[in-house]
Amino acid sequence: MKTIVALPGDGIGKVVLKEAIRLLNAAGFNANYIWADIGWDFWCKEGNALPQRTIDLIEEHKLALFGAITSKPKEAADKELVHSLRGKGYTYFSPIVGLRQKFNLDICIRPCISFKGNPLNFIRKKNDGTFEEPIINTVIFRQNTEGLYAGVEWTNPPKNVRDAFESNPKMKSFSNVPNEEIAISTRIVTKKASHRIIRAAFEYAKKHGYTNVTLCEKPNVLRETSGMMLKIANEVSKEYPNIELWDTNIDAQMMWLTKNPEDYGVIVAENMFGDIISDGFAGLIGGLGFACSANLGDYQAVFEPTHGSAPKYENLNPSIVNPIAMFMSAVMMLEYIGEINLAEKIKNSIAYVIQEGKIKTYDMLKLKGGSDSLSKGAASTTQMTDAIISML
Ligand code: NAI
Ligand code: MG
Repeated sequence: MKTIVALPGDGIGKVVLKEAIRLLNAAGFNANYIWADIGWDFWCKEGNALPQRTIDLIEEHKLALFGAITSKPKEAADKELVHSLRGKGYTYFSPIVGLRQKFNLDICIRPCISFKGNPLNFIRKKNDGTFEEPIINTVIFRQNTEGLYAGVEWTNPPKNVRDAFESNPKMKSFSNVPNEEIAISTRIVTKKASHRIIRAAFEYAKKHGYTNVTLCEKPNVLRETSGMMLKIANEVSKEYPNIELWDTNIDAQMMWLTKNPEDYGVIVAENMFGDIISDGFAGLIGGLGFACSANLGDYQAVFEPTHGSAPKYENLNPSIVNPIAMFMSAVMMLEYIGEINLAEKIKNSIAYVIQEGKIKTYDMLKLKGGSDSLSKGAASTTQMTDAIISML
């Protein structure tokens, strides 16, 4: 029997994770769940949104299902910390970023695959005025630990940092700017991590029959970091003669998103660009209610919907949010551990409920979302789960 660390987090994270476990149980997945502490409450009470006891559990059991957390800006974080801990050097950091770094979960996979019949699917107008609904089947590989999100940044940088930067001739244009008026966020990319994410993308393409891998970067401007990734992609691609390597620039790719999204198979990018491109593609397949992800390291793996805690819906009872992103993340976990039949069974039930179109959460009805959603015909979170369970 597998042991899964269940990380509910905040807001709707708690709701969708509970529903996912209900679905996994109903599907016959034999597992033991250990609920672990993570998120805003633990920052406020303990000054740590990712307590060591939670890290220890994930270290030991290796698999985690994660809902979502709430992060707030620095000032709000300081204000909500319990009085007795204030001024004692506690600083808030995002627990999900912390998890990725702690366990080197450097491979982030975000599939964006349309479900037939989803009313939120992207449609495109044709020349003759009719519409077509291209089926999107794109899987984004996002480098998850480095790049612009590595956290190497300063406001009012210390002298040694400023001096080091001044050694680059391009810093001349900033030479008259006082230190207190400078903020610096770095984009550090390493060969090793680039190799890993690019190879993971090609391996996935090979295993799942995709014919192209696109490196989505900006090497014409970010000559060092994107340039290095492009060079590595060219090298790695030689080992996969049946898979074409395409390279696109992140800005152009976002523009092309609505032009020919069905052409893209696997896409690989640095942390921030992968974040951007995966949200872009998620928009074509139904948005945050459908966007699932896996964070994989060599030893641990954490599966989570890409949405956040949606605070504006957290107090709605019954909950109205769409649990499918969380369910598909659980499906990714089943695939990862080799429970392919169970994964298929759940995926097929979800697909059936969507295609049948009788049960839709508020987002699928294109409603604004609120306490009146149910009276306007939306299904609650639980009703959606029940419908999927009934199709198992
Ligand atoms: P969010 O993803 O929580 O919500 C944005 C909007 O998307 C919501 O208002 C809602 O309209 C929609 N939405 C999200 N999940 C949905 C679902 N399952 N079903 C239907 N609609 C859904 O992002 P937001 O509002 O920017 O951030 C809220 C909090 O979540 C912040 O504290 C943020 O830091 C945190 N966050 C956490 C993430 C994580 O835990 N991985 C990721 C993104 C944000
Ligand atoms: Mg994002």
